[in-house]
Amino acid sequence: MPAQPVNRDRLLRRLTELAQIGRSESGGVTRPGFSLADLEARRYVVREAENSGLPTAVDAAGNLWLGPRPHPGTTTLVLGSHLDTVVDAGPLDGVYGVVSALEAVENLTSLNLAHPVAAVAFANEEGALHPQPFWGSLATSGQLSTPAAATTAYDGTLLRDALTRAGGNLDVIDQARLDPHQLLAYLELHVEQGPVLERECIPIGIVDAIVGRVQLEVELMGAAAHAGTTPMPGRSDALAAAAEIVLAVEDLPAADWCQVATVGRLEAAPNSPNTIAGLVRLTVDVRDADEARLHQAAGEAVRRIESIAQRRTVKASCTRAASSKPVLTDPALRRSIAAAAARRAVPTLTLTSGAGHDAQMMAAITPAAMIFVPSVGGVSHVPHEDTSPDDLVLGAQMLQDAALALTSHPGSLA
Ligand code: GLV
Ligand code: MN
Ligand code: MN
Repeated sequence: MPAQPVNRDRLLRRLTELAQIGRSESGGVTRPGFSLADLEARRYVVREAENSGLPTAVDAAGNLWLGPRPHPGTTTLVLGSHLDTVVDAGPLDGVYGVVSALEAVENLTSLNLAHPVAAVAFANEEGALHPQPFWGSLATSGQLSTPAAATTAYDGTLLRDALTRAGGNLDVIDQARLDPHQLLAYLELHVEQGPVLERECIPIGIVDAIVGRVQLEVELMGAAAHAGTTPMPGRSDALAAAAEIVLAVEDLPAADWCQVATVGRLEAAPNSPNTIAGLVRLTVDVRDADEARLHQAAGEAVRRIESIAQRRTVKASCTRAASSKPVLTDPALRRSIAAAAARRAVPTLTLTSGAGHDAQMMAAITPAAMIFVPSVGGVSHVPHEDTSPDDLVLGAQMLQDAALALTSHPGSLA
């Protein structure tokens, strides 16, 4: 029996309906991992899967499994991505990969395959509220550190409680760990989030590498004081120090330390127009495809922060909140994707991902690869993130075709 093709209406309807969950006034989607909106999106996807007769389950890390889960005696192909978003996100980052993975499982499970196909929505990929990004895929790949597990969210709530609400359990988090012997491979479909495919007019990207990143949390302690009565000399203005730090971080790529560097989050206290800021918390995000350069750049960021703080008599503390290694995707999987595209005469382009992905974590325990579709205007993490419906459907079909080819015969990845 041949596989059903991707159901265009179902795929696009689900994406449209999910884009309403966590919708903000700006038209963007705000659905941080473990937030109420995230929980609602998870319930939506569970309903859709169960309406198609698929089993669903939540593991100890809060990852949502749709269809069969990897289990002893089988080697399962896992397809996935994430449902959580950054603040004021677009409608596709992560969600597209989950909805397409579900679509593939729906169309493939009734076939007599040599390997099962599973779909997973990894929990808290973005770290927008609970600041450990890749939470779910770090847990499944056995890379979650204990301090990460003890985190408090930016709103002061505890990850432990949020995880319980999502159906996970911090006390038995190790149970989320997957046995590599039960895995065939991991494939993730995602919007490119950059300009390359659109510029080259190519509908399908095959990712060869994913950049690594270091994320620092910086606290600057100055001295809050009256903005009118405190003389300019002798001030310890944490916000003025932060301003200099933002620019010093922005300069790192220009000085050839790394590919990109960003201060994306900044909070000043007391945040009052007529008080000198006594405290600033900010984040630094540094990325590079070369691991040694990445760590040198992070070290340089810390040196620059400390030197600015010292000159401005502000106390700085820098904590490494998260880091991920750059990874190469699996060559045999890349060839399978290319062959699937060639069978439908679809042009492809090989490119590197500047964004982080759950595939990066899964690569530690199983062959992993990614398929990209073009992003209109090359933008993402903004409300106007978009991809044409035809490209969305084609990408989902490529995922399903590659999954079918990989699971039809034993030893397909040799
Ligand atoms: C994930 O969205 C990232 O920031 O790369
Ligand atoms: Mn993202
Ligand atoms: Mn993503």
